Amino acid sequence: MKKPNYGLDAPGLVRGFLFGGPALFAAGYFFIPWSKAHFLPLIGFGYAAFYTGIVFFLESFLLMGSSYYGKFRARDKLLDSLQLRGDETVLDVGCGHGLLLIAAAKRLPRGRSIGIDLWSQVDQGNNSREATLENANLEGVADRVEVRDGDMRKLPFPDGSVDAVVANLAIHNISDREGRREAISEIVRVLKPGGQITLMDFKHVGQYEEDLKKNGIADARVSGRIFWIFPPVRIARGHKT
Ligand SMILES: C[S@@+](CC[C@H](N)C(=O)[O-])C[C@H]1O[C@@H](n2cnc3c(N)ncnc32)[C@H](O)[C@@H]1O
Repeated sequence: MKKPNYGLDAPGLVRGFLFGGPALFAAGYFFIPWSKAHFLPLIGFGYAAFYTGIVFFLESFLLMGSSYYGKFRARDKLLDSLQLRGDETVLDVGCGHGLLLIAAAKRLPRGRSIGIDLWSQVDQGNNSREATLENANLEGVADRVEVRDGDMRKLPFPDGSVDAVVANLAIHNISDREGRREAISEIVRVLKPGGQITLMDFKHVGQYEEDLKKNGIADARVSGRIFWIFPPVRIARGHKT
């Protein structure tokens, strides 16, 4: 039977580290004795290539471990913290293959889980609406999952229409500060009063807290680091009052 596939994050980076690491290592390995014999001042380049190659190679495994194992553990921690009743509407911004979207749907027997994404192939390999819907089908929750094409900087939902907004490794993909600010403001806009926000990411999390506060989320705060994902992530969370 076909198994759901939740995708490889940053596939280009993983491939670069996986193949570039050994290439650098080998270059350093041969360059060190060559520079000892012929031109000693260049030996530093040899050692730099040798050790950087090892670090890149190890990082490729940490990234794959994160995509294929660790992020499921972090996902469960994040969703546990929401303490869902089961009848809410949860929005996953930058849902990708549906990691949070589908696991949230499993906890929402009387609710709805909505995902939105613009399907970047750089951020997640083989990313598509169809792949996410297929995962929802394979996980038996297609009846309560909805997937939209769109940009989190302009959410196609009315004000105060969802009970919780979640995100994993998504908002940092917006490269400019202003764009991330727009995304946070949209997330707060579509949230119902009393709703919860839980945004997990490996960078810019302090900015999310700051922008949540500016948008009226008075109790916005950031968690400590969670090491199930590489690079380690933190969660910015809060409630709309
Ligand atoms: C690293 S993937 C993570 C996907 C999923 N949240 C997960 O944990 O597996 C980041 C996702 O954010 C999406 N994304 C990037 N910028 C976006 C934007 N401005 N609006 C909506 N989605 C976006 C990408 O297409 C990609 O699916």
